Amino acid sequence: MTQDELKLAVAQAAIDHIKPAILDGEIIGIGTGSTANYFIDLLAEFKNEIKGTVASSEASAERLRKHGIDVFELNTTGTIAVYVDGADEANDRLELIKGGGAALTREKIVAACSKEFICIADGSKLVDHLGAFPLPIEVIPMARSYVARELVKLGGNPVYREGVVTDNGNIIIDVYDFMISTPRKTEEVINNITGVVTNGLFACRPADVLLLGTSEGVKTLK
Ligand code: 5RP
Repeated sequence: MTQDELKLAVAQAAIDHIKPAILDGEIIGIGTGSTANYFIDLLAEFKNEIKGTVASSEASAERLRKHGIDVFELNTTGTIAVYVDGADEANDRLELIKGGGAALTREKIVAACSKEFICIADGSKLVDHLGAFPLPIEVIPMARSYVARELVKLGGNPVYREGVVTDNGNIIIDVYDFMISTPRKTEEVINNITGVVTNGLFACRPADVLLLGTSEGVKTLK
């Protein structure tokens, strides 16, 4: 199977997983990226049943609205029953690296507000140790050089993501060559650097379920 076929398969598995929540009238949290896009397109089949959604990016919100699915402001919804999103890397503890699409901060906010976080990914995203994928960090623009220097002190190789402005008006620094042996600790330490909005480690709030697309079928890790 191609990577796109695997993404479609996990998106379908996520639809099957959340169908009861849709029929119960729950608002669904929606992630960002190509795997999340497959999920959004499949969700369109339920546009007459679904109460609405909360989106983790302007791009996902626009795609949802094009399908005729309502998108609500998170401040109006309270706790979200279930959030579905992709990842750039995942380990078997369901800790993740996210933010390849620069939506990490809103993704982390929606994940924090959700009772259940379902991560959907093709099998190539499962790794023994997080960090081969450069760790995205959202940074307040005026703090860019300072944050980069602090990241070098932590042993990383920070690279400014040219031309990218997040939905929150900030910039992204990607950290290469970073040894992430204790993801929770690393998440906390980086978030403590002044000027960092948040980083792409989802370890303090990992996924609850990982639906992984493999050539043998969709595997469920909990
Ligand atoms: C966006 C993300 C995405 O979930 C992540 O980049 C995975 O994307 P894709 O499904 O396209 O592989 O974190 O900020």
